[in-house]
Amino acid sequence: MAYGGYGYLDFKYSPTDDDFIVLFWATGSVPIEKIAEAIAAESSVGSWTKLATMNENVWTHYRARVFWIGKVGKNSGFIKVAYPIEHFDTKNIMQFQASVLGNIFGLKELEELYVFDISFPKGYQRQFGGPLHGIEGIRKLVGTEKTRRPHVGTIVKPKVGLTPKEWAHVAYEAYSGGLDLVKDDENLVDQKFCGWEERLHEVVKAIDTASGETGQKHLYSCNITDRYSRMVKRLDYLNSLKLQKHIIVMLDAYVIGMAALQDILDITKRYGFATHGHRAGFAAANRGSYGVNFQIYEKFYRLLGIDQMHIGTGVGKMEGSPLVIKRLHDIAEQQKLAEKFYFGSLEMEFAPHIKPMLSIASGGIDAGKIDALVALHGLNTNIQAGAGVHGHPGGTLKGAISMRQAIDAGMLGISSPKYAKTHSELAQALKVWGYSDPNEIKKALEYEQKNAKRLTAQAMKKGRNGMETGGE
Ligand code: 3PG
Repeated sequence: MAYGGYGYLDFKYSPTDDDFIVLFWATGSVPIEKIAEAIAAESSVGSWTKLATMNENVWTHYRARVFWIGKVGKNSGFIKVAYPIEHFDTKNIMQFQASVLGNIFGLKELEELYVFDISFPKGYQRQFGGPLHGIEGIRKLVGTEKTRRPHVGTIVKPKVGLTPKEWAHVAYEAYSGGLDLVKDDENLVDQKFCGWEERLHEVVKAIDTASGETGQKHLYSCNITDRYSRMVKRLDYLNSLKLQKHIIVMLDAYVIGMAALQDILDITKRYGFATHGHRAGFAAANRGSYGVNFQIYEKFYRLLGIDQMHIGTGVGKMEGSPLVIKRLHDIAEQQKLAEKFYFGSLEMEFAPHIKPMLSIASGGIDAGKIDALVALHGLNTNIQAGAGVHGHPGGTLKGAISMRQAIDAGMLGISSPKYAKTHSELAQALKVWGYSDPNEIKKALEYEQKNAKRLTAQAMKKGRNGMETGGE
């Protein structure tokens, strides 16, 4: 079998430490072997027909090799492809995207194409700096190096519409209730009703007042998302005010794209700012039959140097089973990742200089979900709730208090329902939104550990539909 005159199947090939490994799922109108060759050709050196210009050097050094196919049906299956490091430009993720995540999505033989994961060789990772602050740096900013408790924050709601003074007042109440972090929503930047600069000044005042009262360090994740030149102006301004201890620079990382993100992160690092990545928009290219799994973006974000990153929740309003979200947490926190085929996750090791990012659990959270989230992620996480704070029957202050109470209870080894007996704000939150039992999470984690082989067999039998469920 060949595609465009060349054969890309090489089942005897053993990938080297310098290869990229990419795991695809595909179905189409032709046998899976042919689909695999089409993918390898179009994403590396080939095209639809033989080339008079092809030569031995190109073929030997730059082609992709299909070294494994996990056939699920005649025309469907999993495909592992190895790409040589020489194929790729340096410090240029866009060139990588155009190769491996590019034209192949338009090939007409394909009916489904999903890129589950990429394992990046250390040689490629060396060109990126990783997070400046990482988990430990963010802990220093918040003052939790010793307590090691999870961070807790809120997204001001309504998402947009409040004036700067109203917004800052909500932030002040949240800080007063003990929250570490208040953030802009992904769709709030510099609209007429809430100018970016005015809001910034009002929030910094709120932080100073609240810190005087709580004795805590409080932070503001300030959304600078915009065209590149405006983001740079905002960074220059934040730097001129020396706000590195008050501000975490927030970026809607997916929508600004890798090109702007790379340069913006160079500047935030030069100025010493920590960064907060929101993933709004990624699901547009992730949930259908064609897409790129968020694990891949997350790895890029860590390599480029985002310090804390939204990963969904597993128990909140965003898609993703708890175990899938746990994998995203591990990509943020761990250096070594074992293969978990049933989530489409490959083995990979981050280079030693790439610091861990803090995972952010966000989307549909309230105090009653904190025990479950800590069971899932452990303590190295930032848990934030918007509606779960501002929708509390007692308002923002009590909503914030309820979140802190749930965190404090967990650190004392007390469950939220028990702590709620003597803490009314937490009791109110549990009454309105209920309690997510952490034992369910523990059971799911144990199930995964005991059944890894069975889950893999299930994925191999059912294909993409048999995956990402974290159980049967
Ligand atoms: C986010 O930025 O993650 C969302 O706005 C979360 O909002 P919610 O806590 O109200 O679901």
